[in-house]
Amino acid sequence: KWPLSVSIKEVGPRDGLQNEKKFISTEDKIQWINQLSHTGLSYIEITSFVHPKWIPALADAYSVAKGIERVEGVTYAALVPNQKGLEKALDANIDEVSIFLSASETHNRKNINKSINETLTILTDVVQESLSSGKSVRGYISTVFGCPYEGHVSVQKTMRICEELFEMGVYEVSLGDTIGVATPKQVQEITTEMLKRFHSDKLAMHFHDTRGTALANVTASLNLGITRFDSSIGGLGGCPYAPGASGNVATDDLLYMLEGMEIETGISKDKIHNAALFIQEKIGRSLASHSLQVYQAM
Ligand code: HMG
Ligand code: MG
Repeated sequence: KWPLSVSIKEVGPRDGLQNEKKFISTEDKIQWINQLSHTGLSYIEITSFVHPKWIPALADAYSVAKGIERVEGVTYAALVPNQKGLEKALDANIDEVSIFLSASETHNRKNINKSINETLTILTDVVQESLSSGKSVRGYISTVFGCPYEGHVSVQKTMRICEELFEMGVYEVSLGDTIGVATPKQVQEITTEMLKRFHSDKLAMHFHDTRGTALANVTASLNLGITRFDSSIGGLGGCPYAPGASGNVATDDLLYMLEGMEIETGISKDKIHNAALFIQEKIGRSLASHSLQVYQAM
């Protein structure tokens, strides 16, 4: 039995653009996010307040967050790694803070230059200050299904970090298949373990489609009662500090599948396709989304 509705968080402007070689101008980012705000999406992760040397593609985080139209009913979130990033994010008046770390020690260090325990200490303060500033906080755990440096990652590591994130006060944890290695069998095994400890409403799935298994993994998750997914318009995305990582599951393909399964999302597929065409032109190459190619050919 499939769920009646699913909640989608659009990460295109953040995960989608962070790995792009070509710098998309601030003006184009703003125009694109404004389009996304009128597609029926209720959540957009718009940028990252990380170090601009680490993620040059999002060096204009502050101007983007200040420049976009804020549509009622849409939550505008941004990635925040530490206190310095939080100060800027609060200054830019984002609605929600997304914190992140990895389940594997090596990826965590390569990505944010700290051990997992050091990161947890930093994030405890970030969450506390976010909450006292009236901002909700969401947590990401990366490399849950495999690490580009360490390979297998035990579910116990994810479980422990997840517990700590909830103790800090995050309302939801997104489990990341950062390098797109997961298969439905593994999703079933890991999610079943996680659901013994956490309610399905508290967990989201963040699949990258590096090996073409992302939609299959969404289906496996739906089967277990998970109804929260991250996706990226056009299938953009990837972590620059995870070799070989490529795009997230495409929002457009996800919508096609869910519509066909009669699962509500509240999002217009046509409007998503048009916004995907806009950014495809700015990026200057064909995006990975399958349904976008069909839409273009029609
Ligand atoms: P660091 O060099 O260890 O930072 O970087 P530090 O605290 O030692 O400070 C060094 C300098 O950086 C200082 O400046 C700080 O002020 C400055 P100085 O005094 O030397 O002039 N600094 C900052 N500047 C701007 N914004 C900041 C900031 N923090 C410190 N926030 C840091 C640590 C975390 C900053 C760095 O490693 C970093 O920015 N990493 C970001 C990596 C990233 O964004 N990766 C991609 C996102 S994660 C992802 O994609 C996975 C996900 O999608 C889920 C999945 O797919 O699994 C979420
Ligand atoms: Mg990601």
